[in-house]
Amino acid sequence: MANTDRMEKLVSLCKRRGFIFQSSEIYGGLGSVWDYGPLGVELKKNLKDRWWRAMVHARDDIEGLDAGILMHPRVWEASGHLAGFTDPLVDCKQCKQRFRGDDPRIRGTPGQPDAQCPVCGTKGMLTAPRMFNLMFKTFMGPVEEDAAVVYMRPETAQGIYVNYLNVQQASRQKIPFGIAQIGKAFRNEITPGNFIFRTREFEQMEMQFFVRPGTDEAWFEFWRHERMGWHERLGIRKERLRFHQHGTDELAHYAKAAYDIEYEFPFGWNEFEGIHNRTDFDLSRHQQFSGKKLEYFDQERNERYLPYVVETSVGADRTALAVLCDAYHEEEVAGENRVVLRFLPSIAPIKAAVLPLVNRDGMPEVAKRIHDDLRGRYTVFYDDGGSIGRRYRRQDEAGTPFAVTVDGQTTQDGTVTVRHRDTLVQDRIGAGAIAGYLAERVAT
Ligand code: GAP
Repeated sequence: MANTDRMEKLVSLCKRRGFIFQSSEIYGGLGSVWDYGPLGVELKKNLKDRWWRAMVHARDDIEGLDAGILMHPRVWEASGHLAGFTDPLVDCKQCKQRFRGDDPRIRGTPGQPDAQCPVCGTKGMLTAPRMFNLMFKTFMGPVEEDAAVVYMRPETAQGIYVNYLNVQQASRQKIPFGIAQIGKAFRNEITPGNFIFRTREFEQMEMQFFVRPGTDEAWFEFWRHERMGWHERLGIRKERLRFHQHGTDELAHYAKAAYDIEYEFPFGWNEFEGIHNRTDFDLSRHQQFSGKKLEYFDQERNERYLPYVVETSVGADRTALAVLCDAYHEEEVAGENRVVLRFLPSIAPIKAAVLPLVNRDGMPEVAKRIHDDLRGRYTVFYDDGGSIGRRYRRQDEAGTPFAVTVDGQTTQDGTVTVRHRDTLVQDRIGAGAIAGYLAERVAT
């Protein structure tokens, strides 16, 4: 299957099954913003919960934080975003399309007669690149004046830096320790696209680990392997994951070293997590701009220093996209095609479907009782609409790992069948054993 077909089919499945819808669709859509439907919101929540459990609950040395999206405007001066968070923007005067100046489809040099528009093909109509700041601006309070400008955060990291001493003192953590946060970030991307890959509103899961200078390189190595392991344990195929080490020309202004974790999306290898050694860049800039001392006193060593920061930063939406792309399979079963999302059971939006084989002979009543008993403990779905084959296919497309079917035998001996999404194997177990059966299989 061609990769563009694969992407189109995935986008269409996401809409059909209620994973992801285009924002404001009835108004023609807002191209770079997407809404998560009933299944999508469960999937993304499961991913965020899994990250939080691994990064905060499972460790003694990381604390959680939920900082505001709006911050003091000086934060963005200190962080370097106001001056440097820019992309080169190029306009075609002929067709009015906009591009990033480094768009690989542009032939020639923008601003010169040889430059060719990649959309309308006209030569000599591309403007020279202008630098364009990616931060969204708004105003705080009723008056729209320069003094009231605030920004929608373009990364969650800064909320952690400005709170690092508050968190350290309140939690009595000692260095090395980390602060983790999940939250929305906004970037006025010039060329958003590839579904939820690059959008203007998205969610980040970021962790900043504060370490003693000199120990940063060892921690950087630790965290990049730890994060790769997290993606592998999520069930993403290893051959579709790789590291990309930043060369000196690629490094962000704040980073001494960086690795991306890339996934082979249908549109090519692309970053979905970044691990950065940010040194003391951010804390020293906040110390300078705020005039507040941000040094840490290391009692054991009896010395004061500004910690270095090792950052892990992954997009919740890009992780959801990688998981969706990786889970998507088309296959033939008994002469029929089926589409199946092979999610790890613990992140599947629905854990089990409960289905009466037919709508008579007491089967719906038993199935409803089973459904009601499981609901609240697991996300379960009751479905009695259409043939059993069609109902199984719908659940395959939703990525539901188990289907519990109530049949004629159930009313005789109290047993049900449990169909496995991936192998299609059917186990017969007692109805009273279903909760325990699911518990063993959906926990990790
Ligand atoms: N604090 C560091 C930082 O923000 P980044 O590489 O710019 O680093 C980290 O972003 C992650 O955030 C990316 O790997 C990606 O998963 C996600 N991300 C960044 N821009 C995005 C966008 N426009 N749409 C969706 N996700 C985005």
